[in-house]
Amino acid sequence: MSQQRTAIVTGAARGIGAAVARRLSSDGHAVAVIDLDEDACAGTVDAITTAGGKAIAVGADVSDEEAVTAAYARVEAELGAPTILVNNAGIIRDNMLFKMSVAEWDAVMNVHLRGAFLMSRGAQKHMVDAKFGRIVNLSSTSALGNRGQANYSAAKAGLQGFTKTLAIELGKFGITANAIAPGFIETEMTAATAARVGVDYEDFKKFSAQQIPVARVGQPEDIAATASFLTSEESGFVSGQVIYVAGGPKD
Ligand SMILES: NC(=O)c1ccc[n+]([C@@H]2O[C@H](COP(=O)([O-])OP(=O)(O)OC[C@H]3O[C@@H](n4cnc5c(N)ncnc54)[C@H](O)[C@@H]3O)[C@@H](O)[C@H]2O)c1
Repeated sequence: MSQQRTAIVTGAARGIGAAVARRLSSDGHAVAVIDLDEDACAGTVDAITTAGGKAIAVGADVSDEEAVTAAYARVEAELGAPTILVNNAGIIRDNMLFKMSVAEWDAVMNVHLRGAFLMSRGAQKHMVDAKFGRIVNLSSTSALGNRGQANYSAAKAGLQGFTKTLAIELGKFGITANAIAPGFIETEMTAATAARVGVDYEDFKKFSAQQIPVARVGQPEDIAATASFLTSEESGFVSGQVIYVAGGPKD
């Protein structure tokens, strides 16, 4: 087992974030489960503690500077200085460009980009002090362009540039930064997309699986396994990379 560290996973009340939080706990780390509503984190925290791990629930909007500062104070006091950060919190506000509102644009930019910036800035001092850090940002195959997602694809492409810059700035302190770009993963986010386009979710998954070389849609655990590697001690020479976890190659 790797050295026990304190890990933060944002947007970890459900979906990919919850799976990442559970996996980092089984890797031996104490985990701060951050999401908008502290109560909504209970399921993830219970799953971890029932399995013998250590976790706390922290309610914070990652795009709110004060909330992020308060969240770091709690994590440091209750679990110790965090040296693993997974920026997973995300939202979609899909619309075709001609119908997209400024509010839809700003909401997506704020959670993904401002959120990842505030959380990473908060983490870096702990990581520099420890001379060890692992930052993983959740991008998406939508970074390559996706109809109806001008805001989301721009944010997810932006996260790739952000990741590469963190890798360059922080590498000499033993800190790596990488991005995971998932394809179709079975979560409430893809269920909401199916609902928006008026397709039954089972049919939506079946249709999507037909376009994927490994002939299935992804599960949150597929992303958690990749995050486990990228946050491990042994991944220290992998930095500034974007790993597409999409059941097939992406450009
Ligand atoms: N599901 C997919 O197919 C897929 C594909 C590519 C990328 N992603 C990315 O993976 C990440 C997780 O996606 P998911 O499918 O698990 O989504 P999800 O909607 O199931 O979960 C996202 C979580 O983030 C939380 N969140 C949203 N805004 C927040 C904020 N401001 N502060 C704190 N928490 C916030 C939500 O409350 C929710 O619990 C997202 O960044 C998403 O863009 C998902």
